[in-house]
Amino acid sequence: MLESRLRELESRGLAQLENAADRESLEAARVEILGRKGSLQALSREMAIVPADQKALIGRLLNGVKAALEQAYDRRKAAFDKAALDARLEGEWFDLTVPAPGVRPGKLHPLTQIQQELEEYFTSLGFAVMDGPEVETEWYNFDALNIPATHPARDAQDTFWMEQGHVLRTHTSPVQVRAMEKFGAPLRIIAPGRVFRNEAIDASHEHTFYQLEGMMIDRDVSVAHMVYFLKGLMQAIFRREVTVRLRPGFFPFVEPGFELDIQCLICAGKGCAVCKQSGWLEQCGCGLVHPNVLRNGGIDPGVWNGFAFGLGLTRLVMMRYGIDDIRWFASGDLRFLSQF
Ligand code: FA5
Repeated sequence: MLESRLRELESRGLAQLENAADRESLEAARVEILGRKGSLQALSREMAIVPADQKALIGRLLNGVKAALEQAYDRRKAAFDKAALDARLEGEWFDLTVPAPGVRPGKLHPLTQIQQELEEYFTSLGFAVMDGPEVETEWYNFDALNIPATHPARDAQDTFWMEQGHVLRTHTSPVQVRAMEKFGAPLRIIAPGRVFRNEAIDASHEHTFYQLEGMMIDRDVSVAHMVYFLKGLMQAIFRREVTVRLRPGFFPFVEPGFELDIQCLICAGKGCAVCKQSGWLEQCGCGLVHPNVLRNGGIDPGVWNGFAFGLGLTRLVMMRYGIDDIRWFASGDLRFLSQF
C-alpha cells in the first residue's frame, strides 16, 4: 500500500520537478514534495505503521525515492543556474577593442618622441642638451659660422628676415657658437629644435622643420670619433645595425666637411625606389669644426678641435616610420597622429 503510493509519488514528483518552467515553480515543487511538510515527509511518517518484516524493504524504497527526487531537483536547479549565468554573461558581454567614450588620452607627437629618444641616447654618452633662440641674430646664424655675406643661404628665398638684422634661424648650427661661449672647452652638446626656411613646400620640404645639432670639442678629435658617434646615432634611430659612408660636402663652418649616408634599409644597398637606385640614403651634414668658428666661440684652435653635425630630424622620422609626406607633421590630423 505504502509501497505503491511511494512509487506514485516518485513518478509524479519526478515529472513535476523535471517539467518546472522556472526557478519559482521548481522551488514550489521542492517544498511540496521534499519540504518538511511535504508529501515525502508525510509518507515517511507512515513507516511507523509498516509491519516489522517489511520495514527494511519499504525503508530502502523510501530512501531510493528520496534520493531520486533530490537528484532530479539538483539537476533542474543546476540547469536553471546555468541558464541564468549564461544570460547574464551574454548581457554583460563587452568589446574590449571599442575605444572608451569621452576624451581620449593624448600622446606625444612622433617628432617629440624621437627627439626624446635621441636626447636620452646622447645624455647617456655625456652630452648636454641645449636650446637656442628661434629668432636669431645674423651674427650667430651666419657670420659666426664662417658663412660669408655673399653666401646664397642668406638669400631672401631661403631666409625669413626680420627687422634689425634678426632672422628666423635657418638651422640649429648657431647653437654651436652659443654653446662654446657659454661652456668653453671641452664640450659635448646636442641642440634639437625648430628651424625655418623660405621654401617652396612639397612632400619633402617644409618652411618649418626640426634639426638636431651635435658638437664635441676636445683635444685630438678625429673624423673617426665623429663617425663612431654618428653610426651609434643611426643605429639608435633605426634600431638595427647600419652601414655608413662619408662623402665630401661643403659647409663653411666645417673643414673637412662631409655628408653622411647610410646604406638603404629597404633594399640593403641593392638599389630601390626609396634610395633612388643608389643604395644609399643621405642623413646629415657633418665635419670637423672650422678654426674660425672655434675662434668665434672663444676657443683656441691651436689647443682644441672638434666635430659637429646637423641632421634633419623631420626627414629622419619620416624615414623611420615610412611617412611619405612631410606636410602630415603639422597637419594636426588625428588619423595621422593617433598611429604613433
Ligand atoms: C645644415 O643646415 C647644416 N647646418 C648642417 C650641418 C651642421 C653641417 C653641422 C655640418 C655641421 P642642410 O641645409 O643640408 O645643412 O640641412 C640639414 C638637413 O635638414 C637636411 O639634410 C635635411 O634633412 C633637412 N632639411 C633641409 N631643408 C629642409 C626642408 N625644407 N624641410 C625639411 N627638412 C629639411
